[in-house]
Amino acid sequence: MGLVIALNKGRIFEECLPLLAACQIQPTDDPKKSRKLIFDSVTGGHKIIVARSADVTTYVEKGVADVGITGKDTILEYGDNMTFYERLDLKIGACRMMTAGPVGVPDPEQGIRVASKFVNIARKYFQSQSKQVSLIKLSGALEIAPLLGLADCIVDIVDTGNTLKANGLEARETICDISTRLIVNRASMKTKFDSVQHLIQQLEEVVGSTESTEQAC
Ligand code: PRP
Repeated sequence: MGLVIALNKGRIFEECLPLLAACQIQPTDDPKKSRKLIFDSVTGGHKIIVARSADVTTYVEKGVADVGITGKDTILEYGDNMTFYERLDLKIGACRMMTAGPVGVPDPEQGIRVASKFVNIARKYFQSQSKQVSLIKLSGALEIAPLLGLADCIVDIVDTGNTLKANGLEARETICDISTRLIVNRASMKTKFDSVQHLIQQLEEVVGSTESTEQAC
C-alpha cells in the first residue's frame, strides 16, 4: 500500500532523497528542477510531500501524511503531548541545540532575555536550570537579536558554528543533540502497518539505526 511521506524542505529533504532511493522510493520528477510540492513515486504508489519543518509534524498528526521526516528540534518544539510515533533516528542532519550569546558578555543574573525560534525548548531548558527568562519568538536569523540588543542570548541550532562566529557570538551550553527522525501517524501505524514497517526496516538497514520509540534528548 502506498504511503504519503512528508519531508522537511531544505537540507533534510536533500539528504533524505538518497535514503529513500535506497528504499526504492524515487520521485517521478527531479525535485531540484521542479516547483511541484507533491511528487508521485516511480514505483510503489507513494507520494512525497515537500513541507516546512513545523508543517511536517502537523501533516503527520492530522493523518494527511502517513510518515514524516523532520528534525528532532521540530519534534521537541512540537511538545510533550505527541500525537504521532517517533520511530527511527536517520542519523543525518546531526547538530546541537545550544544557547549562545555575544563573545565575552555573560548573561545578566536575572531577567535574561532569550530569543529563539524554539521557545518551547528554550522555556523547558531554562526552567530545568531554575532560571527565569523572558522569551522572544523569532522566525529565523536569530543571531541578529543579541547584536541589536533585543536579547541577551539565543537558543538555536549549531552545526559548524560558523554563523555564530561570523556574528560575534559564542556557543555556551548544549541543550541536546539533534538529528533527523522518522515519525509515523498513529492510525497509519495500524491501517498501513505492513507498508510502514517495511519502510522502517528498509531505512534501518540503510542507516544502520535501530527502531526506537525513545524520546532521548
Ligand atoms: C541554522 C541555524 C543557524 C545555522 C547554524 O539556520 O538557525 O543560524 O543554521 O549553522 P552553522 O553552525 O553551521 O553556522 P538556517 O540556515 O537553517 O536558517 P534560519 O536561521 O533561518 O533558521
